[in-house]
Amino acid sequence: MLLYERLAEQLREQIAQGALSAGERLPSIRQLAQGHGVSVATAVQACLQLEREGLAVARPRSGYFVRAAMPQPPVVRSTRRRVPGTVSNPALQDVLDMLARSDVLPLHSATPAPSLLPQAALSASLSRCLRHGQAASLDYAPPQGHLVLRRQIAQRYAQVGAAVAPDEIVITAGAMEAISLALRTVTKPGDVVVVETPTYHGILQAVAALQLKVLEVPNLPGQGIDVARLEQLLQQNTVRAAILIPNFNNPLGSLTSDADKQALLKSCARHGTVIIEDDIYGELAWSGQRPSPLRRWDKQGIVISCGSFSKILAPGLRVGWLAGSAWTEALIRAKYFSSVGCASLPQLAMADYLQRHDLERHLRRLRCTLADNAQRLHEAIARHWPVGTRASEPRGGLSLWLQLPDGGDGRALFEAALAKGIGTSPGVLFSSRGDYTDCMRLCCGLPWDERLELALKQLGQLAKRAV
Ligand SMILES: Cc1ncc(COP(=O)(O)O)c(C=O)c1O
Repeated sequence: MLLYERLAEQLREQIAQGALSAGERLPSIRQLAQGHGVSVATAVQACLQLEREGLAVARPRSGYFVRAAMPQPPVVRSTRRRVPGTVSNPALQDVLDMLARSDVLPLHSATPAPSLLPQAALSASLSRCLRHGQAASLDYAPPQGHLVLRRQIAQRYAQVGAAVAPDEIVITAGAMEAISLALRTVTKPGDVVVVETPTYHGILQAVAALQLKVLEVPNLPGQGIDVARLEQLLQQNTVRAAILIPNFNNPLGSLTSDADKQALLKSCARHGTVIIEDDIYGELAWSGQRPSPLRRWDKQGIVISCGSFSKILAPGLRVGWLAGSAWTEALIRAKYFSSVGCASLPQLAMADYLQRHDLERHLRRLRCTLADNAQRLHEAIARHWPVGTRASEPRGGLSLWLQLPDGGDGRALFEAALAKGIGTSPGVLFSSRGDYTDCMRLCCGLPWDERLELALKQLGQLAKRAV
């Protein structure tokens, strides 16, 4: 047995015997090294081994902790729309209106807290653009968007092996506008589109506004898009477009594998279905290994890839984009008719930030904090929520999906929480007909503190009344 294995074995025994209990901090690396007469590297290896086994978790700048019991993953559902129909979900209006009116702890919003974003660097970029490029910053931007920014975005696609030319990119007001423009360009009212279930409620609203009919393909916890079901739907129906979130779907956080991504591309190409890819969470893989966008394997030119800086830099600057493939000209025209073009200043400031600052460094820190937050949310749920509450185990993104035991009422929990000043997203928001009544999405973008711990405890007490 190697030295680190022997040390890991001793720590494992202490955990099993309760000498080190769930949530407790392990001795520091230095203490382990000194106490056991081994090198620091050996102590680190032993802790990494326990982490690999799921017995310990690393917390940024705090060391290793004994991992608490985790909630089970959500049960896979068969609720989904097999016959095309319109989006009919009143929660899309009333729940979102209630949240918009409230000043609450924002556990409902899938955004990193402002303190986790590089506010000073972005402010410096905004000021610099106004100081040194006032005329351009205050003038109209080209409808397609400023070339300096489109080049930067094309370079980021290149880093993940996707060949996207700057000429193919259109700057939009966030990913939401990118998805809406893409849908408006490739569909006409009455067409059938596939959405995931569960999926981001903004997609459902865009589909409803354009009077499209929907079919739903399951996104499975821990697995991603159900590719076999998608193929079935495409065989049985004429589907114009599929709006998919293969990387860390909102709300489940699940990741579709590379093999499944390639299989679904083949299916869609075979059936003449355009894919509108929403890759807004691709940069937020907590491991740091950015998964590929579908666009990487799109040999047939059927993917319109949508992205945004909202989840990694600044949602309020409203800078997103799409890579329009064969539809680029039509998309630029649609953008022009919609708003002439996006505001110049945020685009130029974003380009300035990307040129001068270290985005990778910021992302490393952000991903690490999100992973830690999600872990702490899991632990708090195991501590405070009703026994049998289930939670997704995402490896990236900003959302955690919870399922109450015994068909508990997620909407009642949402309303009770709102009355206490805590914002949550009830499960009914995430499907075309208001399914997932016993589910809830929480955001893991808020840094952990006492207020959050208390809110999770309060939510747990309310959840016990809702089951
Ligand atoms: C999956 C998904 N797509 C798109 C959006 C909209 O993003 P943006 O702020 O860039 O418009 C969101 C925001 O929550 C999202 O979760």
